[in-house]
Order: sequence, then structure tokens, then C-alpha cells
Amino acid sequence: MRYQAFTPIFLVFLIACTISLAQNPPGLPLRKRLPRPFIDLPHLRHEQRRQENIELKQWLQNQQPMMTPAIAMPPGVDASGGSKQSKDSGSDGLVVSDVLPKTRGINIFASLTRDFEPIDSRFNDATNNVTILAPRNSAIQGLPRKPWENPDDYEQFGEAKAYEGPKGQDRAKRNLKRFVDAHIIDRSPWNEGDEAESLGGDKLRWTKDGDKIFIQPGNIEVDSIAERVSNGEVWILNGVINYR
Ligand SMILES: *[C@@H]1O[C@H](CO)[C@@H](O)[C@H](O)[C@H]1NC(C)=O
Repeated sequence: MRYQAFTPIFLVFLIACTISLAQNPPGLPLRKRLPRPFIDLPHLRHEQRRQENIELKQWLQNQQPMMTPAIAMPPGVDASGGSKQSKDSGSDGLVVSDVLPKTRGINIFASLTRDFEPIDSRFNDATNNVTILAPRNSAIQGLPRKPWENPDDYEQFGEAKAYEGPKGQDRAKRNLKRFVDAHIIDRSPWNEGDEAESLGGDKLRWTKDGDKIFIQPGNIEVDSIAERVSNGEVWILNGVINYR
């Protein structure tokens, strides 16, 4: 009798546990987090959540290797159309948007680029070559100011108000865009000594010292050329390009 009375209560408890576990699995290994400084800015938290969503989708997609990655497509663009476009190009058919999120050590920069639709679709555009100069994570984390911060904003709007409210968010986003744009060269291949323009409008070239490549001005060391695909290359930088 006693057991019978407790069974329904126990069942309800069990179901409640199952539901809460399903909604919030413990130690979910997919939830890669942006480093601390990115979390600390309250208005960028939703970006972080968006990012986690994208990464989760990506992970799921990677479980099915036959599927073409279409998650990097900006919203509103037909995913199948986009992947068809990338398949038509080059011998292996990969475009930089396919390889950038998977390149090790630069996922902060990669996630920043995904916040901007024009850049995102450009990386997916097989007819527009780019050279992506991706600073390694530690280079971004080691910056004296965050990529979305601009000393002028602090001067004009004050320390507390600079990135507060919708206008502040716009400013942060604009600064971030400038940071990203400074790291994208609108051509590939990009040959030694050739002056090329970044999307931010700066003129850059590179020189070689022994085996090492250095980007000028700034003498920024290139760690490696991580990816070469049909519409461009991903370079990993040990520093950042001056972005203002
Ligand atoms: C784009 O990159 C590919 C692969 O490196 C190259 O074969 C092609 O000539 C490039 N196109 C232009 C217009 O530079």
C-alpha cells in the first residue's frame, strides 16, 4: 500500500529530473565559451549565445560529413544556393567560410567575422578572393583594449556611457567591424612586395625574413598560412593589424 502511494510521486519526480536534464545537460562539451573579456560586456552576451548556437549547429553538422556546411550563411540567404555556389569553384570546392571556423587557434577572430553579414557572405563568395589575416586568440586577448573599444568613444561619451544603450552598442559594433575589416585583404594570391588594400582601406604588403613572413607596416609576424582554398587563404598572425 505505502509503495503504491509513493510510486506516482516518484514518477513525477523522475520525469521532472529528466526534463531538466534534457534542457540543460550537465557538462555539455560543445559549449565552447568565448574568453572572459567577451563575456564581461553585458550587451555582447547575446552575441555569445548566438555564437554558441552556431557552434552547436556546426558540431551537429560535422557529425554528418556528407552535408555541406551551410550554417555560416547569413540569415535570409538560401543555404542550398550558397553551397552550390561554393561547390562550383576550385578543384576541392571549399571556400574560406568552410575552413575559417575550423582553423585552430583563431576562433575568436572567426567568431567576430560571423557577426557581420557582408563579410560572412564574402567569405562564401567563390568569385571574390580574399586573404584573411586572422590574429591568433592570444594576440586578441592580449590587446591593451578590446577590439570594440575606441579611446575616442571614452573621451567623447565617458567611461561608463561609451558602450551603453542602443547607441553604445552601435559604436561597439562599428569598432568591431573596423577591427575585422583591417584583417581582410581583398585579393588572393597576395604576392611578396605587392601593395594590397584591406577592407578597412589600409594599404599593406609583406616581406620575408628567412622563413618568416612579416606584414608591413607594423612588422607583424605571420605564424603560418593555415589554409589555401578556392577563393583565398587563411593566414595566422601572431599580432594584430593596426585597426584605426
Ligand atoms: C583566386 O584564387 C584561386 C586559388 O588560389 C586562383 O587560382 C585564382 O586565380 C584567383 N583569382 C583571382 C581573380 O585572383
